[in-house]
Amino acid sequence: MTVMTIGPIDAPIAVLYCGDAYVIRPTLGFMDADVMDPPYLIRASGAGRYRKRRPMMDILMAEGLHRGFDMDIIDPRRCGSAIVFAHNDQLVQLLARVQGFNRHALCVWQKTNPQPLANKHYRPDVEFYVHAWNRGYHPQGDMSDKLRVSRIGSPRGAARFDHPTTKPDDLMTKIMRNVAGERICDPFMGTGSTGVAAIRAGKRFVGIEHNPKHFETAVARIGAAIEETA
Ligand SMILES: C[S@@+](CC[C@H](N)C(=O)[O-])C[C@H]1O[C@@H](n2cnc3c(N)ncnc32)[C@H](O)[C@@H]1O
Repeated sequence: MTVMTIGPIDAPIAVLYCGDAYVIRPTLGFMDADVMDPPYLIRASGAGRYRKRRPMMDILMAEGLHRGFDMDIIDPRRCGSAIVFAHNDQLVQLLARVQGFNRHALCVWQKTNPQPLANKHYRPDVEFYVHAWNRGYHPQGDMSDKLRVSRIGSPRGAARFDHPTTKPDDLMTKIMRNVAGERICDPFMGTGSTGVAAIRAGKRFVGIEHNPKHFETAVARIGAAIEETA
């Protein structure tokens, strides 16, 4: 396991771990929010003639990012709130898992430029995330504010940073402005999109990623975000 600390040693702005989330997250104690974009459970075959237009799907499968994740990592005793992205096929299990929080909302990222893929299904023009919270950690944003809505419309964005599922900055910025508290953890950090949004929102960030290549990208991106906001 590698640990990278950025900022003062007694109050770091970011602490980044290269290692296994299931081992490391339980050792980190309470966070204001766990914000995660874990591996989706995806039926990666099919899509007919559109399949060859999706080379990123091959990378996604090669990295094992179609196999889902263990939802025990979402623990209402260990965080004030949790934001968790999920594929359609994971929603029933995810909604059951967040019942341990005080309340939750099912939120939608509506892609303004969805994949041209609809063989025997709807086009993948929406992705879901659940925002679940305990007392004192409810969604932030003025009531008159457009931010306090459970839907964001934004483009899917091109694949970035040599990662098949990097989340767009505007999506993560909106989400981060809804999150209560200062200490944010992303146990499936990827290239660090949650971390960049957290730093830009003036929060502190703890991230975990087991793929060394993506970990290095996250270190560089989050380091740059810290410099940019200094
Ligand atoms: C869906 S991607 C996250 C992408 C990220 N939101 C971004 O914008 O770059 C999930 C990430 O979790 C990582 N991952 C999967 N299983 C893991 C584990 N057990 N421990 C740590 N990281 C893991 C994968 O390598 C992948 O980069």
